[in-house]
Amino acid sequence: MIQDKKKKLAHIVTFGCQMNRHDSEIVGGLLERAGYGSAATPETADVILFHTCCVRENAEQRLYSRISQLKRLKADRPDVILGVGGCVAQNEKASLAKRFPHVDIVFGPNAINDIVSLVHRVESGEKPVVATPDDGPDPRSDLALDHDESRIHAWVSIMRGCDNYCSYCIVPYVRGRQRSKRPEEIIEEARALARRGVVEITLLGQNVNSYAQDLDAGASFARLLESLDKIPDLLRIRFTTSHPKDLSHELMLAIRDLPKVCEHIHLPVQSGSSRILKLMKRGYTSDEYIAKIEKLRELVPDINLTTDVIVGFPGETEEDFGATHLLFERVRFDGAYIFKYSPRSGTAAAAYEDHVDPETIANRHRVLLDFQKDASLDRLKEVVGKTQFVLPESIDKKRAGNLLGRTRGRRVASLKAPPDLIGAECEIHISRLDGWTLIGETRDKR
Ligand code: SAH
Ligand code: SF4
Ligand code: F3S
Repeated sequence: MIQDKKKKLAHIVTFGCQMNRHDSEIVGGLLERAGYGSAATPETADVILFHTCCVRENAEQRLYSRISQLKRLKADRPDVILGVGGCVAQNEKASLAKRFPHVDIVFGPNAINDIVSLVHRVESGEKPVVATPDDGPDPRSDLALDHDESRIHAWVSIMRGCDNYCSYCIVPYVRGRQRSKRPEEIIEEARALARRGVVEITLLGQNVNSYAQDLDAGASFARLLESLDKIPDLLRIRFTTSHPKDLSHELMLAIRDLPKVCEHIHLPVQSGSSRILKLMKRGYTSDEYIAKIEKLRELVPDINLTTDVIVGFPGETEEDFGATHLLFERVRFDGAYIFKYSPRSGTAAAAYEDHVDPETIANRHRVLLDFQKDASLDRLKEVVGKTQFVLPESIDKKRAGNLLGRTRGRRVASLKAPPDLIGAECEIHISRLDGWTLIGETRDKR
């Protein structure tokens, strides 16, 4: 194809959680529809956008240094448009443009639908353009595919915001109250995605288990899954993130009974100490968490269970940390994201006393990481020798003739198969482990 020399190019850099990454894809899709191509580097772009995260301080600091680095580029090419979106933009609003005068646009998560007009406003001389409304219309998830048509997987946002106000967390302050999308809209979007060749969707929300609690009676997350499960061309349905306090028996049964709903749950525990969980305002005790896991494993024995945990929350003693360690030993998670506590201004915990010193936090972080690395590998080894359904997603560049995909439990697997099986679920016998990848020898298309 002959490249249109006048086509403007956009470069998007994304930080943060899946919701932010999905917002960023939608922005990419909207720009694509408006005629922008994509640039591989900031140097070759006409529009540079950052999609930012402020959940922990180090992410925010990294972003500020990236923005500062672009001062030179902006001085050399003043026509380049520099925009900062996502959670830092929403949190800092106009003050971000004051602090970094070379930033042209500050746009929050509720303004992503308007990205093209925001860029046009800068082109016609306005600066800075700040758009950080408290709410806005739901963006359509299928817009995200406009700049990548070959996808077999897509994210579908089912709700925005969060009402939980865990004491350490800034998300409710930046993303606002929980707003659930209507089930019929979600089903319509999922159908549109399936028509474009998507076979696997991941439903997104900060707490999908409380989906629809802000809608009319009758809707629930489990019922939404039931409706989505009926869409003929979809093969797999995933969701994230689940909150333990809202994990219902109905949802456990949905995971067990609905054929397309995959056997993986990301269920952040945050701490194994009930005293700390109370200070975190999580709404469950360590025993309640364990009881839910036991029930879930009884119903869905091979479920893949992953978690998030924070070490060094204010007031966390050796005993509290010991309780977290013990919970990890008892539960044996398949994987865990282990975070060092980071005080976020405006949250309740930032005002708590007894902050744990950084060295202790670093030690606890390392101890838990070391434990979990072995535990994750042990859990993975348990899959060797079993038969699994794998959905190949791409060519395996490390193993000639193989495709790389994921099991229903979201574990990475490689199998010998021709490229036309990408997007078709295959049944394979897992014969061994190579690093962290399951290797399958035989296959049958499902
Ligand atoms: N809504 C999701 C997660 C949102 S943020 C949930 O509730 O599970 C992702 C993870 O970041 C959280 O699960 C938590 O472990 C971590 N996190 C949030 N705030 C943090 C903070 N102030 N310091 C360290 N980690 C934090
Ligand atoms: Fe933050 Fe808690 Fe909401 Fe998750 S549930 S986004 S940790 S406030
Ligand atoms: Fe970060 Fe915002 Fe997600 S703060 S974790 S990008 S909701």
